[in-house]
Amino acid sequence: MKALILAGGFGTRLRPLSCTRPKILFPIVNKPLLQWTFERLAKNKIEEAILAVNLQTELFIKQHRIPKCGLHITYSRDPLKKPLGTAGPVKKAEKLIGHNAPFLVLNGDIFADINYRKISKAHKEKDAVATIALHRVEDPSRYGVAELAGENRIKSFVEKPSPETSSTDLINAGVYVLSPAIFKYIPKGQEVSLEHEIFPKLVKEGKLYGYVFDGLWTDIGEIEDYLTINKILLKHFVKQHKHKTGRGIRVREPVAFDTGVSIGEKSIIGPYTILGQDVTIGKNVRIQNSVIFARTIISDFSSINGAIIGESAVIGKKTRIEGGSVLGDHVKIKDNVSLTKGVIICPAKEVTESVLTSKIII
Ligand code: GTP
Repeated sequence: MKALILAGGFGTRLRPLSCTRPKILFPIVNKPLLQWTFERLAKNKIEEAILAVNLQTELFIKQHRIPKCGLHITYSRDPLKKPLGTAGPVKKAEKLIGHNAPFLVLNGDIFADINYRKISKAHKEKDAVATIALHRVEDPSRYGVAELAGENRIKSFVEKPSPETSSTDLINAGVYVLSPAIFKYIPKGQEVSLEHEIFPKLVKEGKLYGYVFDGLWTDIGEIEDYLTINKILLKHFVKQHKHKTGRGIRVREPVAFDTGVSIGEKSIIGPYTILGQDVTIGKNVRIQNSVIFARTIISDFSSINGAIIGESAVIGKKTRIEGGSVLGDHVKIKDNVSLTKGVIICPAKEVTESVLTSKIII
């Protein structure tokens, strides 16, 4: 079976980190999301992945040299300055996908422990044009929700319902099996949405089915989701290693350190802290509940809690960065600066004074 990975969105909700990398290259416990996806595809014996991208994303992915895990990888590129939405790229890849068999479509920004073979089997047992993986969540209002009739046929599909109107907690998990019949539903060369335009049409025709699965699921649509998935994986899936301590350094599990990390004396790292490749931590630093991207420097006596700090940032001495703050790549924070909760700093900005109300610094 072939898989089409939708990866050409702009990830506006993940700014400022998505200003300098596409969503599918966000590191999840120090491994790009796309690599997790490739690994899961390979584990499910999928042989070919087609990446539906825009030019910029294609270049980023190629630069990253992600291990292909034995998959045959091809690219299907949206036209320049003309994003095709979530359905347009399916039509665009029609020739690469072919008309022989049903195929998988994955939103590139989700992390789902799903058995692709089982959903594909469920799809083939029905007269379905599309089968959507459905997952139960507590608050479905941010997502598309499906109401099931007999035999898992979807009888209604509503995008982002208000809490009062939603009678179901089954959400669209962003994993689909589509039959080649789907191609005739999607106009060529246009921006078309699977969720808003194609699925409602299939509901009316009785050709849309659901496949409910349990287990781990999250998208990384928003910053909070990104921190959550990192935490979940740290807790449940990442083996804890013995970290070299000494010189008064304390490591509180769970944590993950990439290669080349150095930590100064008397620093306390963790819990729930991820340090990317070649991150340098000074003396007497305290970091918890945070993700620090590669090559960033955190200087002596600083404290960071609940923040995400992009690549190659330089954080001065005696700084204090609080929950929900997100710093873009190459940001510089001067000594003695405090950032309160929810401060967002765009890439390459230099901050010389404390910021005591949550705001975006452009
Ligand atoms: P936001 O701007 O934060 O909403 O993110 P997004 O643009 O990625 O949109 P969304 O999360 O709804 O996208 C779902 C999936 O479809 C993601 O994996 C996107 O990369 C992908 N996607 C969205 N729009 C396009 C597009 O125009 N072309 C392609 N090829 N993929 C897209």
